[in-house]
Order: sequence, then C-alpha cells, then structure tokens
Amino acid sequence: MNALRLLTALLSLPLLGVAQADDMRLPAGAPPAFQSECGACHLAFPPRLLVAEDWRRVMAGLDQHFGDNASLDEPTRRVIEAYLVGNAGKPNKLGPAGPASPGEAPRLTATAWFKRKHHEVSPAYWRHADVRGPANCAACHKQAAAGSYREREIVMPGGRRWQD
Ligand code: HEC
Ligand code: HEC
Repeated sequence: MNALRLLTALLSLPLLGVAQADDMRLPAGAPPAFQSECGACHLAFPPRLLVAEDWRRVMAGLDQHFGDNASLDEPTRRVIEAYLVGNAGKPNKLGPAGPASPGEAPRLTATAWFKRKHHEVSPAYWRHADVRGPANCAACHKQAAAGSYREREIVMPGGRRWQD
C-alpha cells in the first residue's frame, strides 16, 4: 500500500466504525411496519435517540400516545419494540428522557443529548408556526427523512441557512 492509499484508509476509518452525530439513518432490519405505522403521523424517529427503557415505555402506552391512539396489534407492536430496543441509544451518551409531564410517554427531545445539540437554537424557533415543537425534525433538517442531519442541510423557519 502506498502512502496516499494508507492515508485515505486511515481517514475513512471513523466513517466505518463509529456512527456520526449527524448520521441517523435507520439501522438495518427495520420491520416494514416501523415506517408505515411509526412514520404515519411524524418522522419514523431514529431508534438511537432513546434508551431501551424509554422505548419500552413508549411502546407500552400506544393507546394514549401524546393525545393520539397509536395502538397496534400485539405481533406488530412486539416486532417494532424489538427493533427499537435492539438499536436503542446508549444511556451514558443520551441520558434518559424522563416523562415530560406526568402520564406522558418519554420524549427523545427531552434527553440531555438532544438539548445539548440544540442549545444554540432559540426557543422562539420551537414555537414558530412552521415548526410547532422540537419533534418536527424535518421542519429544519431538510434531509431528516433520509436520516441525515448535517449542519449544511439545516434551513431555519424564515429561510435562513444555519451554516453557509
Ligand atoms: C396517530 C398518530 C401517531 C402515530 C401512529 C404515532 N405517533 Fe408518535 N407522536 C404522535 C404525536 C401527536 C406526538 C407528539 C408530537 C409533538 O409533541 O410535537 C408523537 C410523539 C412521539 C414521540 C416523542 C417525540 C418528542 O417530542 O421527542 C415518540 C418517541 C414517538 N411519537 C414514537 C412513536 C412510535 C415509536 C410510533 C409507532 C409505534 C408512533 N410514535 C406512532 C402521533 C403519532
Ligand atoms: C427549529 C429547527 C430544528 C428542529 C425542529 C430540530 N433541529 Fe436538530 N438542529 C438544529 C440546529 C440549528 C442544529 C445545529 C446547532 C448547532 O450547530 O449549534 C441542530 C443539530 C442537530 C444535530 C447535530 C448534528 C451534528 O452535526 O452534530 C442532530 C443529530 C439533530 N439536530 C437532530 C434533530 C432531530 C432528531 C430532531 C427532531 C426530533 C431535530 N434535530 C429538530 C435545528 C433544529
């Protein structure tokens, strides 16, 4: 191997092994129902944005899901839960979500990780009519549906690019 190829190989190492913070593509093995059921009302959220215990709580309370009934038949519920739990985030990196309010399912937008990543985003943006809350990822992350959250793809409500 010549020096240039060695250098190229070394530089690409992080992309192979360690997942990047801006790369949230769905891990392999997603059951078709995950996209069709959990992507019906909002983005099919990346599994690694909640810890396993929080996903179990989300999946245990689908009949009262943030004011909606998102119930599934039991076989479908179990297959989706297994996928989410199997690909859940690491507690030491994310932090638990905790209930946003009593009786409510855990929110991935309530983890320490999510808050840290968005500490520069002014609260006025979350309330903006085109956003209506931090769960609406695609309002700002234009490639969210494809699992990409790169800074250069962010367009804030009003049209301002986050990064030129
Ligand atoms: C009938 C519509 C509907 C379906 C189906 C649905 N959801 Fe939701 N979900 C909602 C609503 C409404 C909210 C609250 C959004 C908000 O506050 O902006 C929500 C919020 C969430 C949140 C918290 C987002 C945050 O604020 O951090 C998670 C996690 C979530 N849903 C997971 C799921 C999963 C997993 C499924 C599939 C099993 C699912 N949802 C199916 C309507 C739905
Ligand atoms: C109101 C606009 C807005 C919404 C809604 C929003 N974000 Fe962000 N997000 C941002 C901005 C702006 C940054 C960059 C902040 C910085 O660089 O300080 C960011 C950063 C990120 C990053 C870090 C990217 C990196 O390169 O490290 C991830 C991952 C992310 N957001 C995921 C999400 C997810 C998932 C959701 C929905 C649950 C969401 N965001 C909702 C504006 C938003």
